[in-house]
Amino acid sequence: THVGVILVAAGSGTRLRAAQPKAFVRVAGHTLLEHAVARAFEAADTTQIVVVAPASHLVEAGALASAHPRAADVTVVAGGAERTHSVAAGLAALHDDIGVVLVHDAARCLAPAGLFDRLVEAVRTGHDAVVPGLAVADTIKQVDASGQVVATPDRSTLRAIQTPQAFTRHVLADAHASGVEATDDAALVERLGTTVLVVDGDELAFKVTTPTDLERAERILGG
Ligand code: C5P
Repeated sequence: THVGVILVAAGSGTRLRAAQPKAFVRVAGHTLLEHAVARAFEAADTTQIVVVAPASHLVEAGALASAHPRAADVTVVAGGAERTHSVAAGLAALHDDIGVVLVHDAARCLAPAGLFDRLVEAVRTGHDAVVPGLAVADTIKQVDASGQVVATPDRSTLRAIQTPQAFTRHVLADAHASGVEATDDAALVERLGTTVLVVDGDELAFKVTTPTDLERAERILGG
């Protein structure tokens, strides 16, 4: 069964304070979107990438994708107002032969191919939903609306979750059919009662959110 990557790149990226949407910001001479596409194609089994771009940037996204040698395997579609809508738009554009789907943030543009491969392998060995996670360095507290602490979960039980997140296609489609919104796709799958497995994440899969993150990416790429 073939592997499709839904690359969500339709966010505005206001925290980056750039003139253009985040995925179209350049680091080391290329946009975050191009870096992410390159790594997703380096993964062993990727047969299709669906780039979900802002409606205002469909042409630009297509032009960037067309520079890749495997441009013929890239589909560009318009995203929605919330991340969940953007993923759903990506799902609708997957080829029929795709059985395993990786949902990935273009903002995590340095996530290495080996991480994609690890997640796909876990799905192939029988897990319907697999996400990468890192142990947290900080103590995390749950607070209420007034800022008062409600709970302090045992830190050793917590993981900071990244993307790509890997699913069998039917499980991801069912999760999105619920129409609920969430900040990640695994949360929708959890709501269905399906078990989600966390495997080791990768420091390089950090999300470019602030100007400091952009500098970090630039340093890593030797810029
Ligand atoms: O805003 P945040 O950094 O959490 O976004 C994570 C990813 O989701 C980014 O790659 C962003 O482009 C994407 N996104 C999207 N559609 C939205 C909001 C975010 O594709 N409406």
